[in-house]
Amino acid sequence: MQQQDQILPRIGFIGAGRVAKGLAWGMAQGGQRVGAAASRSPASAEQLAARIAGCRAAANAQDVVDRSDLVFVTVPDDAIAAVAASLKWREGVAVIHCSGATEVAVLEPAARAGAQIGGFHPLQLFADAEVALAGLPGCTIAIEAEAPLLSQLEQLARALRCRTLRLPPGCRARYHVAAHYAAGFVITLLNQAVELWQSFGIEREDTIRALLPLLRGTAASVERSGLAQGLAGTYSRGDIGTVEKHLAELARVGPDALHLYCELALRSIPLGLERGGYDEHRAEAMRVLLRRALKP
Ligand SMILES: NC(=O)c1ccc[n+]([C@@H]2O[C@H](COP(=O)([O-])OP(=O)(O)OC[C@H]3O[C@@H](n4cnc5c(N)ncnc54)[C@H](OP(=O)(O)O)[C@@H]3O)[C@@H](O)[C@H]2O)c1
Repeated sequence: MQQQDQILPRIGFIGAGRVAKGLAWGMAQGGQRVGAAASRSPASAEQLAARIAGCRAAANAQDVVDRSDLVFVTVPDDAIAAVAASLKWREGVAVIHCSGATEVAVLEPAARAGAQIGGFHPLQLFADAEVALAGLPGCTIAIEAEAPLLSQLEQLARALRCRTLRLPPGCRARYHVAAHYAAGFVITLLNQAVELWQSFGIEREDTIRALLPLLRGTAASVERSGLAQGLAGTYSRGDIGTVEKHLAELARVGPDALHLYCELALRSIPLGLERGGYDEHRAEAMRVLLRRALKP
């Protein structure tokens, strides 16, 4: 164990919220050496440290930097730059943030002092620390760093039993946009369904209960068969009569609902074609109907 401690980097956390706790506890369970945590409120750092043997709540953030080889700045996105700029960094230390949308360059003050900088973004929704710990295994962590930090972070992701994805510099905002299509925007779309069913008297909770198995089935279908072959419904088959019924009904509901439907439907057609559900002639007939419905 002593020999292992000499090899393993000392990991510290600044900002002991949901992600920090989930990562720190998971890393410690995976045999990594999490040694220090500081937060705005001492209680948060103490909660993080309490579940890890050999980890202490540090007096302040600088204490974490001074005691660690890898420092995770796990504060809210808007605070990362100020926290990084307020600390004294040194050569040989690495500082990493966990934000999806924030460029790694925000850690530049640390780089100027000789530190390595990186990004380590778990692609998962963490409502609380326990959810974070349970949700990490199997999820993907998007890593942005140069060697040798890159391989250290990939090793940490493996200790958490996560997959990894390498992000090139400068793409984080676009990367983060894409993640919304598998997370928050799915909820937005479910809300659209709720509104439609509410208009004929079905309660929100009943709609959610009815649609969740469909959502799980859709995820399972994509996992099993991929996007095109996993597609089901009207735009997998090219049912033009059904498209006409949908458009006529949504015209009665209102322009917003109609617009959203048409945009999504137009983007479904290439997948239906790839699936082999219909030919280009039928695809064009559907596009014409949808574009006509989109015109003001
Ligand atoms: N939650 C998610 O689903 C998720 C997923 C992937 C990535 N992320 C990223 O992970 C990072 C942390 O997010 P989170 O969800 O863990 O946020 P969070 O639960 O709000 O935790 C942030 C922590 O930072 C502390 N803090 C705030 N300002 C600070 C400062 N100036 N100095 C020191 N500590 C400070 C907070 O204060 P207290 O000490 O008062 O508690 C809190 O414990 C963000 O970059 C976020 O984008 C989040």
